[in-house]
Amino acid sequence: MNDEGLPVVVSGIRATGKLHLGNYFGAIRNFFPLQEKHQCFFFVADYHTLTTHPDPDVLRQNRLPIVKTFLATGIDPNRSVVYYQSSLPEVAELTLLLGMVVQLGELERCTTFKEKVRENPDNVNHGLLTYPVLMASDILIHRATIVPVGSDQIPHVEMARAFAHRFNHLYENIFAIPKTLENEAVRLPGLDGSKMGKSHNNGIDLLDDATTIREKVKSGLTDTNRIHRNDPGDPLNNCGSIYPLHNLLCTDQEIIAIMQGCKAGTLSCVECKQMAAEKVVALLAPIQEKYYSYNDDYVRDVLVECAKRAKVSARPTLHQVRQAMGLD
Ligand code: TRP
Repeated sequence: MNDEGLPVVVSGIRATGKLHLGNYFGAIRNFFPLQEKHQCFFFVADYHTLTTHPDPDVLRQNRLPIVKTFLATGIDPNRSVVYYQSSLPEVAELTLLLGMVVQLGELERCTTFKEKVRENPDNVNHGLLTYPVLMASDILIHRATIVPVGSDQIPHVEMARAFAHRFNHLYENIFAIPKTLENEAVRLPGLDGSKMGKSHNNGIDLLDDATTIREKVKSGLTDTNRIHRNDPGDPLNNCGSIYPLHNLLCTDQEIIAIMQGCKAGTLSCVECKQMAAEKVVALLAPIQEKYYSYNDDYVRDVLVECAKRAKVSARPTLHQVRQAMGLD
């Protein structure tokens, strides 16, 4: 709870590349409805970005667009706090202190750490190992109880819970125990049917223009068993990328019609893709219009203002932690 008795929400997005539809459905879309009844903190996890993307230009290019996207998707900076993780260096100090109750073994066993080691064996840096401690600090510093994230982040939130419990038990009962708010949305695959990833080149970017969207969707994987246009399809089990899009974008009635048409072979993949493309264009047009309406100076002012509010929330927690550990 914050001072006004509202439950606290924290979530962050790494600035590793352009945001795509998977980020939208997996995370961003779920942020703005929370503002109504929660005190929300949404940030660009720029420290975390450096664990795998050490190029300074990557960070310089990618941070502001994420903030603009937050605003364009309805996050209200007067209500919610939107900031860069690194403009709240209090989280770095909390990471150092919280790390004292974290065992090396549990960090090494973390599934996401092991994955990153496998993906990039030449850069197993310390930041990667302590990634979950930094993420726990992001959450615990605001005493958040709700963390809206995609399913891939659940192990990290579990670790944050464990660290909070442990600290509260060993020192003082300071931290709230956070919980994930899992998104209902199914995971959106990329256009090639595999996981949509910023670096896999298989996604629809939130800023793609209508022509690009239509081209990309046209290239999307459908049901490979449908060789002729009238072959019956199995949208639920076999459609690689287009049915999952419809599933997120259509009304129940539209979905039923698409299922029936596909199964009966009366709706061709070409037509189905055209419908999907128009849905995506219609979804993104108003977001893009808002996005391009912001001037960078305005967004930077928002960040300065919000960073102050983030500090007001973070400092008392850090102060208490320092005291509890004997650093008063
Ligand atoms: N690890 C998250 C991701 O890769 C980003 C993140 C960092 C985050 N700190 C967080 C998410 C705190 C929620 C809460 O997507």
